Formats: sequence, C-alpha cells, structure tokens
Amino acid sequence: MSSQFEIWHSWADEAILQATPPVTTQPERLHQAIHYVLFNGGKRIRPMLLYGTGALFETPAEILTAPAAAIEMIHAYSLVHDDLPAMDDDDLRRGHPTCHKAFDEASAILAGDALQTLAFQVLAQASVDSETRLQWIQLLAESSGSSGMVGGQMIDLEAEQHQLSAEALRTMHQKKTGALIRASILMGASPAQPDSTTRERLTQFSQAIGLAFQVQDDILDIEGSSQVMGKPQGSDQQQGKSTFVTLFGIEGAKRELRQLYQQALDALVPFGQRADPLLEIANFIIQRNH
Ligand code: IPE
Ligand code: IPE
Ligand code: MG
Ligand code: MG
Ligand code: MG
Repeated sequence: MSSQFEIWHSWADEAILQATPPVTTQPERLHQAIHYVLFNGGKRIRPMLLYGTGALFETPAEILTAPAAAIEMIHAYSLVHDDLPAMDDDDLRRGHPTCHKAFDEASAILAGDALQTLAFQVLAQASVDSETRLQWIQLLAESSGSSGMVGGQMIDLEAEQHQLSAEALRTMHQKKTGALIRASILMGASPAQPDSTTRERLTQFSQAIGLAFQVQDDILDIEGSSQVMGKPQGSDQQQGKSTFVTLFGIEGAKRELRQLYQQALDALVPFGQRADPLLEIANFIIQRNH
C-alpha cells in the first residue's frame, strides 16, 4: 500500500494508544491482555476505510481520531471472543497465540468486554459537535450489537454442520463482518453530514466491500497459508462452518468476489479522483493474502 496508508496506519496506532489506559493500570493482567490484542499486528483496515472516507470530503484526519480508535477496539474485541473455545476455538491470531492462550479464558472474555465499553467511552469524549458524536455512537452501537456483528456471529455458530442458503449466508456475512465495515465508512462521512444520495452511494460501496471482505476471508481459509495469514488455515472446515466456498465452491466464491468488487467500484464512480484512497483499499481487500 502507498505511503498515505502507512501514515494512516501509524495515526490509527497512535489514536488507539492515546485512548487506552496504560499497560501498568490496575488490574495489570487485564490491561496487559488489552494491549496484547490491540498492538499485535492488525492490518487496521477499518480505520483506513474511515480515513479514506473522510478524505472524500476533505475532513481533516485529526477529527477522525476517536472513531478510528473506537472501531478498531470493537474489532479487536470481536476477534478475541471469536477465537474462544466456545466459538471458533483457534490458537493463533496475527502470528501469535490467541488472547485466551497467551493469558487465560476469563482474562480474554474480560479484555473483550472492557474493549467494547472503552470504544463507546472514546466516542463519548470526542471533541466534535454533539450531532456528529451522537451519530458515531449510534452507528457503532447498531453495527456491533445483536442486529450487527454479534447477531452475525450467532448465525455463524448456529450454521455449523448445516449449509445455509445463499441468501442466509449473505445476511450472516453482512452482519458479522459487513456491519463494522459499513460503520467505518459511514462514521468517516459523519462530520461532513453528506446528503442522502451521497450516503446511499457510500452504503452501496460499504455493503459490497464488506461482503467482499468476508468472501476473501473464506477463500483464504482454503487457499491461504497459516504462516502468511498468522491464523490457522482450514479452521472453517474443521469447525464445519457455512462459508462462501462451501456453498459456491472456490471458483464460485471467486466469481462472487469479482462481482462485489465491481459493485464497489461502480458505487465510487460519482466521487471521481477523491475516491482513489478508497479504491486502493478495496483493491487491497480483494487481493490480500492475509
Ligand atoms: C479478520 O479481520 C476477521 C474478519 C472479520 C474476517 P481482519 O483481517 O481485518 O483482521 P486484522 O485486524 O487485520 O488481524
Ligand atoms: C469473524 O469471522 C468475524 C468476527 C470476528 C466478527 P471469522 O471467524 O471468519 O474470522 P477469522 O477467520 O477467525 O479471522
Ligand atoms: Mg468466526
Ligand atoms: Mg474465526
Ligand atoms: Mg475466517
């Protein structure tokens, strides 16, 4: 990715660090677990999408510090809980032992809980106008709760060992992964208060790229390498998950990915060159190998 992305990546890291209690805060073990999951090599795709959307409206990136940190906190919490024995039961994340392996199950559950509430605290304290702040809180709450990410995770678990229909699979992916991606994009747009047509275009882009993100994740579970991904290849198969690959086959999943990518590009056309950073992130999402 370009140098702009390296800058955004380091801003996201800084935003998260500033918003997180120091590792020496009591209870120390909890804060060690929180730091472990926040700073162990995430790609920071969601903050990138947020900054990339802000760039569409020439919103200065400093204004987006709070939502960049908050979205990544919710994402990190979702991964900690996703890896637990009661869920996907995975031992490796970002090339390191998962949180419950490096610490213990109870610490991992509590670190996830704490990250979730910290995300909302960060938004509540953001120095922006109250309308934007409220919109951010609303977008993050609806996308991470029972109608969004958590709801999608429940469908995922219920669908183990039996294949979902194409429509149900799309709904599951839109919720478990797409919802936070959509929130990243809409939160990036909030300070500019875009009109309804612009919001609709951004929603179309975010739905296509959010779904594409999870389709590529499903493909990587089959074709990726554990070493490059930093998480176990074949985890979905082992758990009997319903994925785009189990439903459509690997070629069908790749066809779906190409269609979603095209839909994402089409939605950005009216923005012209201002959408170049978002296009580059979309390219990265569908071509990534980790
Ligand atoms: C992985 O997300 C989990 C899914 C939603 C598929 P990422 O691939 O963005 O994870 P990190 O943060 O870069 O490790
Ligand atoms: C996880 O989907 C989605 C969330 C954490 C909300 P996966 O279970 O496919 O993610 P990985 O493959 O473990 O990263
Ligand atoms: Mg999962
Ligand atoms: Mg998983
Ligand atoms: Mg996966």
